[in-house]
Amino acid sequence: MEKKNIDWANLGFGYMETDKRFVANYKDGAWDEGALISDPTVTISECAGVLQYAQTCFEGLKAYTTEDGHIVTFRPDLNAARLKSSCERLEMPVFPEERFIQAVSDTVAANEAYVPPYGSGATLYIRPYMFGSNAVIGVSPADEYQFRVFTTPVGPYFKGGAKPLTIRVSDFDRAAPHGTGHIKAGLNYAMSLYAIVDAHKKGFDENMYLDPATRTKVEETGGANFLFVTKDNKVVTPKSGSILPSITRRSLITVARDYLGLEVEEREVLFEEVKDFAECGLCGTAAVISPVGKIVDHDKEICLPSGMTEMGPITKKLYDTLTGIQMGRIEAPEGWIHVIR
Ligand code: PLP
Ligand code: COI
Repeated sequence: MEKKNIDWANLGFGYMETDKRFVANYKDGAWDEGALISDPTVTISECAGVLQYAQTCFEGLKAYTTEDGHIVTFRPDLNAARLKSSCERLEMPVFPEERFIQAVSDTVAANEAYVPPYGSGATLYIRPYMFGSNAVIGVSPADEYQFRVFTTPVGPYFKGGAKPLTIRVSDFDRAAPHGTGHIKAGLNYAMSLYAIVDAHKKGFDENMYLDPATRTKVEETGGANFLFVTKDNKVVTPKSGSILPSITRRSLITVARDYLGLEVEEREVLFEEVKDFAECGLCGTAAVISPVGKIVDHDKEICLPSGMTEMGPITKKLYDTLTGIQMGRIEAPEGWIHVIR
């Protein structure tokens, strides 16, 4: 398979149209069999549930070319399960989990020419999503839905790659207690746009959201979970019912414990404790692990001892081990790697 002529090493995190996408429609209580199609546009009612009342959710995962030349995805079963919980919370029909994995695999295989080569530093980002497609004017769930999967080759989520980020404590909230912070609903991202644009205007890379009820505990950023390292090399990650259960974070916990022999604590993390940590990272599919060097809380600054020039040593080990597993250089735990071809 001849690859497209793309400058893989200089890709940012952006959308590039690829050849094929998967589309399935839900009507009269059932999903059709779906198909790979070429048309990248969507035609729906002007009154579609997604357009009026934001009835939409999505997933994000990546395809990698391994050292020995296979194309694989990483734990797609967990994305299928998370989409199921998003759909249930948003009164949307579940797309069967085995069919989700098949649709992802078929879409990646159909766009093989866009899967970045091993060692290029880029990956193929996969975006499965679903939305209410028929007309809804009273506030109620739609009756018809579309599930789609597209792919786009991407580089690092944050410009500068592994350069430590500066983030700020946000005055805005991301999720309400008992709200939708734990699912991947489009609405969570819509309401974060004002805060991220404002953060960027003021020179910050991301927002740190605190728990909305007490504003004393660390939750997550707009698109990644937090991972901290204590001065005695313990990995600490916030536990909360209103953060997205990151697959990267859950995988890094296993990597830390079973591959690196580190102690891991999943627990409430008080903002007050953050000044005592040695390292901080943002973890997610797009972010992988992006190191944080500085956290600004209004007129106070927390400068992590790992500094502003490179990843801290534990963050680096976690990053190298996780990406080693994803690229086939390090043996993966059973069931983590789904081989497409
Ligand atoms: N938190 C939020 C709000 C996200 O959007 C994402 C991205 O998916 C994550 C965390 C990281 O989750 P994952 O590791 O499953 O990609
Ligand atoms: C991801 O990491 O897959 C995300 O969805 C984060 C962001 C692009 C929304």
